[in-house]
Order: sequence, then structure tokens, then C-alpha cells
Amino acid sequence: MSSSDELIMSSNELVEAHSLLWHSGLDYMKSMSLKCAIELDIANVIHKHGQPIPFSKLVDSLKIPPSKANFLYRIMRILVHHGFFTAQKVNGGKTQEEEEAYSLTNASRLLLTDEPALIMNMKSLSLFFLLPAVVNSWQSWSTWLKNSDDMTLFETAEGKTWWEYASQEPGLNHLFNDAMANDSKLTAKIILEECKEVLEGLKNLVDVGGGTGTMAKAIVNAFPHIKCTVLDLPHVVANVQETSTDNLNFIGGDMFSEQIPPADAILLKNVLHDWTDEACVTILKRCREAVLSNGNKGKIILIEIVVETQKTTNKETTELQLLNDVFFMGLSAKERTLLEWEKLFSAAGISHYKIIHTFGIRSVIEVYP
Ligand SMILES: C[S@@+](CC[C@H](N)C(=O)[O-])C[C@H]1O[C@@H](n2cnc3c(N)ncnc32)[C@H](O)[C@@H]1O
Repeated sequence: MSSSDELIMSSNELVEAHSLLWHSGLDYMKSMSLKCAIELDIANVIHKHGQPIPFSKLVDSLKIPPSKANFLYRIMRILVHHGFFTAQKVNGGKTQEEEEAYSLTNASRLLLTDEPALIMNMKSLSLFFLLPAVVNSWQSWSTWLKNSDDMTLFETAEGKTWWEYASQEPGLNHLFNDAMANDSKLTAKIILEECKEVLEGLKNLVDVGGGTGTMAKAIVNAFPHIKCTVLDLPHVVANVQETSTDNLNFIGGDMFSEQIPPADAILLKNVLHDWTDEACVTILKRCREAVLSNGNKGKIILIEIVVETQKTTNKETTELQLLNDVFFMGLSAKERTLLEWEKLFSAAGISHYKIIHTFGIRSVIEVYP
């Protein structure tokens, strides 16, 4: 078929192609309506109401001026469409006319704050993805791609690395650390319920890039005989160092220059996807040395994505893995396929690994130095 023949489409094909591009251009409205709902604290307002909240009551509770009520109605309509809330018709309101009343879904329950029954919260992570500095860097994506310098996209846009940026913005540092800590609450629950054996028999563990220590605390609570050390950047551990105990210790330093303490196990959770292959090989080599210097039977435990692009894989799983992959392009980093993981291990002098468990889009991988 000649190239001009390919340009001839049926009406259906034309509408389908047109819709895909139209939809892709507006996809960010889903993110922005979620951000708006979080900033307005809609989930907590609905929860505090104790029953489905009629639209007119929601308008009053959020102090939305009557002239803007219709805008809120339409934001709620798309949020319901995307599964963040549900809506049902009720009689009532000021005019006694039928109106919508909104309830939470499991997704919006994860936006509730100060709810001890909830093991984690997704508010900080959702807001982090949509921070102006994070979103703005993507405006220079195509320009950055053509530059031959080795700056990351984030550095090109902001003039500093993401880690420098986070260290200089206390609010953002807190938001990021809180997002990671909440993710660790979920991961700790999964590991302790579904593959606890990965931690059994260990006497000590170092969580490299372990953030504010949520994962390490969960490990110490479940296995009080394991001595845990968290190594992370000084600005990250600054406020938690005083919470050190006999079996939980924090070190503020750079994993590329600070010595990683010898241990039976080194945990790297969501760390390697922040780095280039070269940096990952350096990190893995340093972790390997720390394990080997403690005897021969240790291991490195990775909690990371293994990208699956086979047709048999659930489409949504692959999509979220690929979205993460392009997101980490902002740091010149990436999510990796199994083959790419194997290449990294081999470059770091590691020949054996085992995927112990897969949950959602991530896997727990034991790596034996
Ligand atoms: C994506 S976060 C993961 C945090 C934690 N492991 C978790 O999953 O909740 C990456 C962590 O690596 C830390 N980090 C970045 N550069 C580092 C360095 N040079 N040395 C030590 N930690 C570093 C960050 O401060 C951050 O806490």
C-alpha cells in the first residue's frame, strides 16, 4: 500500500483516531480534578458528614460561592466518572428538588487524613506528582531530548537536581518523605503478610535510601531481634535521628560516598529506579561489598518494578509501569524489564536472584551477592 493510500480512512477510523488524540490532549484534566478535590479536602468533608452528602450541603461545607456551584457539580461529575466518588439521587436540599449525594470509594478513602483505621494515605503522593516544579519540567521534554549535555530533564528545567531541590524546599521535602513513608506502610503490610520469609533469620539489615524509616520501623516491630539501620540523605533523616533506639539507627549521608554498614541484608526499596544504569551498578556494588564483608550468606532485597510488556500481562499493570518509567525519565532514570535487571546484576558482579513475590506493579527480588 502506498503511503497516500494509508491516509484514506473510513469515517469510523477517522473518528477513532481523532478521539484518541483529543482524549490524550485532555487526559491531564483527570489529574487536575483530583488535585482540586484534594486541595478542597472533599474526601474528608464527605467522610465527616457520616452519610452520602447532598450536593447543596457539599457546596455549603466547602464555602463555594453560589456563582461557582455549577463548576463544582461538574468537577464532582468527572470525579464520579473516574471512580473517586459515587453519586446517588436524593430528595432534599434547599429547594427540595432531587439532587446528587456523594459517597467515598476505596480510592477516596485513601485521601482521608487522621484515620487510624487506614493503614496508608495517598494524599501526599498524588500531590507530589502534580507539584508545579514536577509538572513544569515536562514542558521542556522534547527540547531536553535534543540536547547533548548529560543534565537530567529536571535539572534542565529547574537548574538543580531533584535531590538538591528537595533539600532546599522544606515543604516539598516533607511532602515527598510523607508520600514515601505512606508507600512503605503499604509495602510493609504486604511483605509481613505475604512474604515474611524474606526477613526471617536476619540479625541486621540496612535500608539504603530508607527515607524516614517507616519500613525499618515495621521490620523492627515484627522482628524485634533484627537491628535496622536507615541510611538516607542528611535533610531526610534530620528530624528522625533523635528517634533512634537500640535496634533502629539512622545515618545521614550519601550512599555513594558514605560507607554502607556491613549487614546480613541490604534493603533497596524504590531506590534504583531513581538512578541511571551506571549509578545503579555503583550502588549495587557498594551494597554487595557491605553484605560480603559481613559473611557470605547475606542478600540484597529489592522492591522495584519489573516492567512486563507481554500481551498476556494485564493492560492496566503495564500502563502504570510504563507511566512510572517515563516519569523517572525526568531523573534520567528508569523502570526496568527483567532483562535490564539481569544486565545490571551481572555488571555489579551478581549472578543469582529470585523474584519472591509480586504485588500490584512491583516485585520483591532477593539478590545474592
Ligand atoms: C524514592 S525514595 C524511596 C524511599 C524509601 N526507600 C521508600 O521506598 O519509602 C528514594 C530515597 O533515596 C534517597 N536518596 C537519594 N539520593 C541519595 C543518596 N545519595 N544517598 C542516600 N540516599 C539517597 C532519597 O532521599 C529518598 O529517601
